[in-house]
Amino acid sequence: MQWGIKNRLARIFNPETGRTVMLAVDHGYFLGPTRKLENPRETIAPLIPYADALMLTRGVLRNCVDPESRIPAVLRVSGGVSIVGPSLADEGLTTSFEDAIRLNVSAVTMSIFVGTEHERETLLNLAELVDQGETYGIPVLAVTAVGKELEKRDARFLSLCCRIAAEIGAHYVKTYYCEDFEKVVESCPVPVVIAGGPQLDSFRDTLQLAHDAIARGARGVDMGRNIWQDEHPVAAIRSVRGVVQENMPVDEAFELYRSVAGR
Ligand code: R5P
Repeated sequence: MQWGIKNRLARIFNPETGRTVMLAVDHGYFLGPTRKLENPRETIAPLIPYADALMLTRGVLRNCVDPESRIPAVLRVSGGVSIVGPSLADEGLTTSFEDAIRLNVSAVTMSIFVGTEHERETLLNLAELVDQGETYGIPVLAVTAVGKELEKRDARFLSLCCRIAAEIGAHYVKTYYCEDFEKVVESCPVPVVIAGGPQLDSFRDTLQLAHDAIARGARGVDMGRNIWQDEHPVAAIRSVRGVVQENMPVDEAFELYRSVAGR
């Protein structure tokens, strides 16, 4: 792997642990002002000190994150669809590689939609992005199985998605946790991080999810709603960080959550 790609990945994945806590705040690109992310600057600012990287669009990066911030940006460069449109899978590339370079990003990211009518187009977009990433030394994160594809969330399907993304050249892959998750990790030759998905019933469940994913080989989380839609987002990210970066058992992390939340 070339130096620039390695260096940027080392900004995202803590070299001491090999793991990352990415804060996903890109949801507005198809959901608009979703709950608790109506004002991205207000949501993001208190969480930045506890995140290893932010996943976001160029609009939110430019307008809602100070350029003096040292937080690595993983720039979403796909979109062109909305929650009220005909298909969430019909994504194209929305941001040029030149703009990603100008924004000094640590990685670029896009979704692939395996198993949909847009499979070929999104996979070829990934190939194009990887070619550009290799040219300029910027890693590419492939996001698998969002939207309707969630219904197919089992190890067989997610292994298929992750492996295809890695074969095309993605430098790391984001997917969902599932039963037999270790099979997804074992059959994917690049690091796998997990999304959180919609907010879970109890925050303890979120910590358990992060814990189980790490125990089965995930290299971190790229989590959004379970952190910033929580009643206590700072307590939430600090305790997820405890699990991912400090090997905290779930009970201890939940105690940390409760104490930071003032419960
Ligand atoms: C989905 O396409 C978005 O990229 C989100 O970043 C992703 O789903 C992770 O956020 P959450 O933990 O809220 O699912």
